[in-house]
Amino acid sequence: MRLPLVELHLHIEGTLEPELIFELAERNGVDLPWGSLEELRAQYAFSDLQSFLDLYYANLEVLRTRADFATLTTRYLERAAAAGVRHAEVFVDVQAHTSRGIELGEVLGGVHDALQAGERTVGISSKLLVSFLRDRPPAEALAVLQQVLAGPIPVDGIGLDSAEVGYPPELFAEVYALGTANGLRLVAHAGEEGPPAYVWTALDMLGVERVDHGIRSLEDDALVRRLVDERMPLTVCPLSNVRLRVVDTIADHPLPQMLELGLLVTVNSDDPAYFGGYIDDNLAALQEAFALGAADRAVLARNGVEASFLDEAGKAALY
Ligand code: ADE
Ligand code: ZN
Repeated sequence: MRLPLVELHLHIEGTLEPELIFELAERNGVDLPWGSLEELRAQYAFSDLQSFLDLYYANLEVLRTRADFATLTTRYLERAAAAGVRHAEVFVDVQAHTSRGIELGEVLGGVHDALQAGERTVGISSKLLVSFLRDRPPAEALAVLQQVLAGPIPVDGIGLDSAEVGYPPELFAEVYALGTANGLRLVAHAGEEGPPAYVWTALDMLGVERVDHGIRSLEDDALVRRLVDERMPLTVCPLSNVRLRVVDTIADHPLPQMLELGLLVTVNSDDPAYFGGYIDDNLAALQEAFALGAADRAVLARNGVEASFLDEAGKAALY
């Protein structure tokens, strides 16, 4: 039997495939700087997080309308269903769109419509998480959260992403306090390129319930003990870590060590259109590099369910 997969670290904008970039450019009359798919694909060699983010943000130019955001999300759900995903918790980088003049409602509405439809059409339940860009001002994040809370589209949680080093989690304490006061679930990217200190402050000053990436936690034994003791989930993204040069090759990835240490690790795809694959591709790469056995694969699948924001009945339905 195929294990039910849960995706907990997925930027919907990171599912924007090159073919869809051309399709949406045509739909919206956007002039692309690339003459062909091949020319665009040649840009996908990254030296670090920032070099990836530069292309990721530039490509968003083709996303304009509620229908575009719905198309993007529907295409992701179809691909995820083929991988065996049954539940997905999806980030949307709303400031990457509102800052270029797109209405918040177009962005959230389109993603929300498609996620709702996906429950019926491909049987994937979902949560919607608004992720704030940490390299933009915290006051802007606060204003966006207030606007989201006042708006008609319900969201389940908040996250923090974009360029990490130099933008520690504590800058966003007020944003997370507002999220907490409104019953939102809390996650943040920490310890991807940033130091273990950022994981500590994500826990202590933001109150996160999951850490996105968190792989640099391994540099701090006391932090590892705390993460293990608290059963704090880490949403690990192996192919992302290779493509952004956080690790040299998949064979150097610390996932087996993380499992061995008793960390609650989950496997996710981050930005699959950019990093060479979806959740099934990430699992296949790990399997090939480490010959993970059936028991390890079952632990990873169970961890995904446990670390999700589903209620107990929702989790029970997936186990
Ligand atoms: N935004 C999209 N993908 C990201 C990642 N891997 N790290 C930080 N910000 C991101
Ligand atoms: Zn991410």
